[in-house]
Amino acid sequence: VLADYGISPDHGFLPSELPLVALPDPYYAKWEAIVSNLQALLLSKRIRSTVDRLPVLSTSYLYNENEWRRAYVVLTFILHGYVWGGDRPEEVIPPQITTPLLQVCEHLEVPPVATYASVCLWNYKPIFPDEPADTLENLASINTFTGSLDEHWFYLVSVAIESRGAPSIPLMLQAIAAARAGNSEVVTKCLQALAEVIDDVCDLFQRVYENCDPHVFYHRIRPYLAGSKNMADAGLPNGLLYDDGTGKKTEYRQYGGGSNAQSSLIQFFDIVLGVDHRPTGVTKSDTAVPSSQPRHNFIHEMREYMPGPHRRFLEHVNSVANIQAYVKSHQSDRVLCIAYDACLAMLRNLRDKHIQIVSRYIVVKSREARSQSSSVSNGLSMNRPGAMNLATVHHGDSSSNKKLRGTGGTALIPFLKQARDETGEPAINSW
Ligand code: HEM
Ligand code: ALA
Repeated sequence: VLADYGISPDHGFLPSELPLVALPDPYYAKWEAIVSNLQALLLSKRIRSTVDRLPVLSTSYLYNENEWRRAYVVLTFILHGYVWGGDRPEEVIPPQITTPLLQVCEHLEVPPVATYASVCLWNYKPIFPDEPADTLENLASINTFTGSLDEHWFYLVSVAIESRGAPSIPLMLQAIAAARAGNSEVVTKCLQALAEVIDDVCDLFQRVYENCDPHVFYHRIRPYLAGSKNMADAGLPNGLLYDDGTGKKTEYRQYGGGSNAQSSLIQFFDIVLGVDHRPTGVTKSDTAVPSSQPRHNFIHEMREYMPGPHRRFLEHVNSVANIQAYVKSHQSDRVLCIAYDACLAMLRNLRDKHIQIVSRYIVVKSREARSQSSSVSNGLSMNRPGAMNLATVHHGDSSSNKKLRGTGGTALIPFLKQARDETGEPAINSW
């Protein structure tokens, strides 16, 4: 049953109940006060001193799943504000954050870092509560780091995508059952409907341009989404120390930052269609020779950043996915094959459009920042005095810049291009 996996047939991976805009128990008022004043606390650089003065709150006053989710959203916004909200990143996370956060994370089976669930899935509300919260016309984010329209929009486009994608879940489970029963007609209908969903998702996806400016994204929003893995250039050589106040020797931990690669919906599309993603740099022919060393597979790794029930749902779907094999063994059914190939073409197109977005929002912006920072060193600074260039600090874009990385930690374009190309591989009639 979908509900066992925290999924609803209408809302998909979005929660079936609307996220809470604040924890109801006044016990948590101090946390809520911090997130509702986050912009001011970041601007005045008072976030750390404010958190340090907090009492260490217990999780005993969280009474239902929705409240646990809200606690996760609140604590991960506070965590990332704490780490990135100063001139230098802070690597020691105090018990005020660590103690409740680790408990919340254990409960929800998520890592102690801002994820797609914290900023998108569990962080939206309707503008007008009497209208459905399922399109961009009626969606607002609950919390943001910057308060900018751009940041709201960046998150909301993903919420709208999850909402539009939701019906594809029961639809494709139906397709799997139909394939098992040998009913090609139903499989074909479901695939045709899925192709339409993915096409709509692609249209929504492109709406990010409407209200999210690449400059604001790159310099203002993105730095706060950074994680603690491979972040030596940004000033976190070892990761973060989650001090839980017990005095036990705590160890550094490293987590990837928030990334839409943590969306279960897009991975669901891959899994039902039988798209296989290999570790970056591994070609299809390489896999014929088993490698002694398992290589790092980013897309699979991102499942660890999804809420536990969603991760288990994907594993389950993976174990029953039969559409690709069904289509391959019914190649004389042209309509079926065309419908299957259309889904792959749409998904590939989505990844193509995504690469264009990444080059406009990250690659171009980082190049500009680099050439600016070299003019700074030539005494030609165009920057406001004292304005910290967060992107420069955090992403280590010095003039000797080497590797541009996504917040999730990938090498961006080569990774994304490979993921795109892999999407077309199972096609019956390759294009
Ligand atoms: C991965 C950037 C919007 C879906 C990535 C990666 C980057 C990136 C850099 C590489 C992984 C990493 O290291 O973080 C962006 C930017 C966006 C954006 C700059 C908008 C301004 C979206 C949206 C979606 C999405 C709206 C939802 C459909 C994905 C997926 C991956 C990914 C599924 C994993 C790679 C794959 O499956 O092909 N994104 N992204 N992204 N992003 Fe986005
Ligand atoms: N994963 C996106 C980035 O790298 C958010 O900027």
